[in-house]
Amino acid sequence: MNTNIILAAGLGVLLLGLGRLRRRLQLSRAKHRSLAGHARIGRWFSSLVPYYEYSDREFFCADDAPPEIESQRRAAFHRLAGLYARQFARTAALTAEVQPEIADLQFTSRYRVPFQFSRLVRQNFNAGAFVASSAGPMTTDLDGNRRYDLTGSYGVNVMGYDFYKDCIDGGVALVRELGPVLGAYHPVTAYNVHRLRTLSGLDEVSFHMSGTEAVMQAVRLARYHTRRRYLVRFCGAYHGWWGDVQPGVGNPTAARDTFTLRDMDDATLRVLRTRSDIACVLVNPLQALHPNSGAPSDSMLVDSGRQARFDRAAYAHWLKRLREVCTERHIVLIFDEVFVGFRLAPGGAQEYFDVRADMVTYGKTVAGGLPIGVVCGRRDLMRRFREDRPADVCFARGTFNAHPYVMGAMHEFLHRLELPETQRRYADLDATWDRRAAELNARLEADDLNVRVANLSTIWTVTYPRPGRYNWMLQYYLRAHGLALSWVGTGRIIFSLDYTEADFAEVADRFVSAARQMQADGWWWTSPALTNKSIRRRVLGEMLRAWRGRPASDRLVRPAADEVALGNKA
Ligand SMILES: Cc1ncc(COP(=O)(O)O)c(C=O)c1O
Repeated sequence: MNTNIILAAGLGVLLLGLGRLRRRLQLSRAKHRSLAGHARIGRWFSSLVPYYEYSDREFFCADDAPPEIESQRRAAFHRLAGLYARQFARTAALTAEVQPEIADLQFTSRYRVPFQFSRLVRQNFNAGAFVASSAGPMTTDLDGNRRYDLTGSYGVNVMGYDFYKDCIDGGVALVRELGPVLGAYHPVTAYNVHRLRTLSGLDEVSFHMSGTEAVMQAVRLARYHTRRRYLVRFCGAYHGWWGDVQPGVGNPTAARDTFTLRDMDDATLRVLRTRSDIACVLVNPLQALHPNSGAPSDSMLVDSGRQARFDRAAYAHWLKRLREVCTERHIVLIFDEVFVGFRLAPGGAQEYFDVRADMVTYGKTVAGGLPIGVVCGRRDLMRRFREDRPADVCFARGTFNAHPYVMGAMHEFLHRLELPETQRRYADLDATWDRRAAELNARLEADDLNVRVANLSTIWTVTYPRPGRYNWMLQYYLRAHGLALSWVGTGRIIFSLDYTEADFAEVADRFVSAARQMQADGWWWTSPALTNKSIRRRVLGEMLRAWRGRPASDRLVRPAADEVALGNKA
C-alpha cells in the first residue's frame, strides 16, 4: 500500500517536472536567437563589453583599406570638420556650454556612432542641439542654417509643424479662462473622449502624461483583470522606458514578469496557446518594418547588417492570427500606437491592418504637440475597482493627467483631423511615399551608391547593401547637406504629411549629393575580404583583447591615451 502511494507520488512529480520542462522548451523555442531575444544574456553581455577606441590611424582604416584610401578619408574628415566648425559655430558653442549640465545630451552625443570611433567624431562633428524656429518642413538653427526636418520630432510631427502651432494656439485660446486648474476637467475633455472612442472603436479612455505611462497603465489593467502575471512583448519592440517593457540592455534590474518572444513566428503562437499565465500581448506595429530588430540607431552600425522590409499583407495576416489566439485564450491584446497612431491612417494601425485590439495606447501627436499618453480600452478592462471587493483596486493617478492646456490642444488636433483638408492628406498616402522611396532608391542604385531606403509609409530607415565599417559617416554628410536627423542618425527618418513633391525632390537631391560625396571620399571602399561576418569577428576579437587588458593591435589604444583631435574641438 505504502509502496503504491510512493510510486503514484513519484509519477506525479515526474509528470509535473516533464510538463514544466516542456513549457520551458516551448518558451526557449519562441525566443529570437539574437541577444535582443535573450534579455538576461543581453544585459549580462553588455555589462562585459569593455571600452576601447581606435588610434588615429586605425580610425581611418579599420577595414584594412590601403594607404591611399586612408589618406583620402583623413583629408575628407578634416574638410568636413572644418565645414562643421564654420557652419554650426554658434549652435555648437551653446551646446558645448550646457552639455556638462544636461545628462541627456551627454548620453545622446556619446551614442551617435560605434563607440570605437566616437571620441574623434564628437570632437569634430558637432552640429549642436539647439533650433531657433520651424516653418513648413524646415527648421532653423542658431547659425541661421535652414534644414529639412527628417527627425519628425520623435514621431510627434505627423501633420507639419505649422499645424501643431495652430493646435497649441487654438487650444490655449479655448482653455485660458480656466488656466492650469487640475483635478477637475475642462469641458473640451468631453469632446476629446467622444472623438477618441469613435476613432479607436473602444469604450473608455484614460489620460496620462507620456506614452510610457499609458503603456504602464494598459499592462497593469490587463494584469489586474486577468489575474495573470506575464506580459508578452516582441523582440526589438520599443514601448517606452518602463522596466517591464524594457527587460534587456538599458534597464539595471531584471524584468521578471516579461516574456520577449519572436515576432511573426508560429513558436510564439504555440506559447500563447498553451500557457495560462499570460495577461497580455503588447504589439508595436512599427515593428512591421523590421520584425525582431530594435530601433535602428547608427551607434549600432558596426557593419552593414541593418535590414528592413515592410510587407503589409504579411504583417496584417500575423496580427489576425495573434488576435485569434488572444481571443481564444482570453489574453488582452494591446496595440501600442504611441508612434504609429494617426500616422498610418486616421484610425491608426487598427484601421490600417484591419485588426481590432482590446486596448490601444496613443501618445506623441494626439495632443496637438503637447505631452500626452492615452489608453483606450474595452469597458470591462478599463475599470479600476471591483463591485464585490471594494478594497481590491487598480491604482493609477498623475498630477498633470488631462491638463487643460493639453486637452485644449488635443481638442484642436482631433477637430482638425476631421476636416476634409486634413483627411485629404491620407489619400494615397502609402502610394505616394512608396513611390518616393522607390524613386530615391532607383537614383542611388543608378549611381552605384552603397545606400538604400526602406519605408513603412512616412517612417523610413536607411540600409547599406555592401559590407562597410563607415556607414555611420553618412549622417554627418546628410546634416552638412541641410537635412536634420535625430540622434539615431540614419536609423530613423520620419517625414511629416505636409512634404510636397517639390520638398521631397529637394530632400532626394540633397540625399544623393551627400551619398555621392561620401563615396568620393572613400568611406565605402570595399574588398572581397570584407564581409559583415569578418567585421563582426574582428570587433569581437578586439573586445576580447581589450577585456583582457591588452590592445587588440598596436593600432588600438586605451581611453585618453590618444588625445589627437582633428579640426575643431567642440
Ligand atoms: C511605441 C511607443 N510606445 C511608447 C513610447 C513612449 O512614449 P513616451 O516617450 O511619450 O514616454 C514610445 C516612444 O517613442 C513609442 O514609440
